Amino acid sequence: MTLAAHDVLAFDVYGTLVDTGGVVDRLTAVVGDRAGAFSDAWRQQQLGYSWRRALMRDYVDFGTCTAQALDHTAAVFGTTLGEEDRSNLLATYRRLPAFPDVAPALARLAGEGRRTVAFSNGPVAAADELLVAAGVRDHLSDVVSTDEIRSFKPDPAVYHHLLERVATVADRVVLVSSNSFDVLGAKRAGLQAAWVRRTEAAVLDPWGVAPDATVTDLTQLVGA
Ligand code: LAC
Repeated sequence: MTLAAHDVLAFDVYGTLVDTGGVVDRLTAVVGDRAGAFSDAWRQQQLGYSWRRALMRDYVDFGTCTAQALDHTAAVFGTTLGEEDRSNLLATYRRLPAFPDVAPALARLAGEGRRTVAFSNGPVAAADELLVAAGVRDHLSDVVSTDEIRSFKPDPAVYHHLLERVATVADRVVLVSSNSFDVLGAKRAGLQAAWVRRTEAAVLDPWGVAPDATVTDLTQLVGA
């Protein structure tokens, strides 16, 4: 993929800029060696709730999806979460760490004069807080949220909202995401998409839609 000078790079947040696995340490104290499996199940349930909420037109914000998914996952794992553990886990989720490549890559992209924004299911205030805590907010010119139109990825409407917010046409916006459904959603809406394949185990949905680029970390976008 060759980026044009005026292309806008829109970065997904959870799983792309920040590591949702950042809750595993705290989960270990609660569910022991099932922490990794619990973290994965919690994340899948959170996303599942967001998709169903969007489809049902029964919006609650992403933080509520996260909290309800935590309660569901705890029940599935047969764990009774005390109030303190529950609130500590949700607090940890609001302060997830950035992946190590993110700050240097965003700084170098900014140095190239690139326009970069965050684009997330998380409401602007929550995404801002998360990105500030992770030390990467300063490198992004704006935060755009699907919450502004009360829906979630991959509703095509949220990608159209992103285009309106950055005031650019679809083929000049590159969605950068590790989430396969987000890559496919962006392509469906006419945007360009770069898939961040952070692990070899990550698999793109076999829908016959190819990303415009595949990278293993964000530094590979520098100079592209
Ligand atoms: C986000 C979700 C997809 O940050 O993780 O938008």
